[in-house]
Amino acid sequence: SDDASAALLDLARRIALQAAEFAFEARRGGVSVAETKSSPVDVVTAVDRDTEALIRRLVLEARPDDGFVGEEDAARIGTSGVNWVVDPIDGTVNFLYGIPAWAISIAVVEGSADPARWTALAAVVVNPSTGEVFEARAGGGAWLDGRRLQVNTDVPLSHALLGTGFGYAAEVRRAQAEVLLELLPLARDIRRIGSAALDLCAVAAGSLDAYYERGLNPWDHAAGALIAAEAGAKVGGPGGGAATFELVIAAAPGLYEEIAEALRRAGVDA
Ligand code: IPD
Repeated sequence: SDDASAALLDLARRIALQAAEFAFEARRGGVSVAETKSSPVDVVTAVDRDTEALIRRLVLEARPDDGFVGEEDAARIGTSGVNWVVDPIDGTVNFLYGIPAWAISIAVVEGSADPARWTALAAVVVNPSTGEVFEARAGGGAWLDGRRLQVNTDVPLSHALLGTGFGYAAEVRRAQAEVLLELLPLARDIRRIGSAALDLCAVAAGSLDAYYERGLNPWDHAAGALIAAEAGAKVGGPGGGAATFELVIAAAPGLYEEIAEALRRAGVDA
């Protein structure tokens, strides 16, 4: 119901703001490269882990029966049918280098922890460096600090500013390079901001016309996808379905089709 998703959004916002303050303060104290995951640039900082632990504790204190899917720790299966999908710091490399484009990303989804089958109920993305708080509730629109967001419409690909990301695994980067070669000559330009969550919020806010990326993980896009969709974006794979999120495109419907078509020409399917 509306009341239930409004309560979830309130809780998600409160927790995201607390996590944002924690991570921002920790960043001021300097960061340590604690370990690396799939490649040397996939940097996991101690702050990343501690921030996820904080979010998880706050969620489960308030809602002990919910599931929790985070980037850092093993998933927790809940019994309520509600799952929290969390990227404690999306844009870890920006965080590491002190570039002010990293975010706390929290989505509350229903039904299943499987991204192909869940229904997003509420989402919050906080950029602690700017203080921006993006949020959405299913059916309730997308908002930035009290202002309703609306994607840019009627922008042809030739005039579109696209956002993208390259992932960190070698095979994803190779595939991403092919897509980049296909799209770059057709568009106004392409940005690589470094946080999928903020890219999707930028589409919602109209500071990008579209975003696409291959090889995202559910926690990278869960919150941003709802925020973009509630601002009027079509979000999904080139086939149009939410599918596997092997490839995500977010844009106003017309531009979405143009991008999907260009990708199909390049032999990209998802
Ligand atoms: C990454 C960022 C980046 C995107 C990668 C993600 P992380 O998330 O969103 O922009 O290109 O695909 O993995 O690792 O910083 O949480």
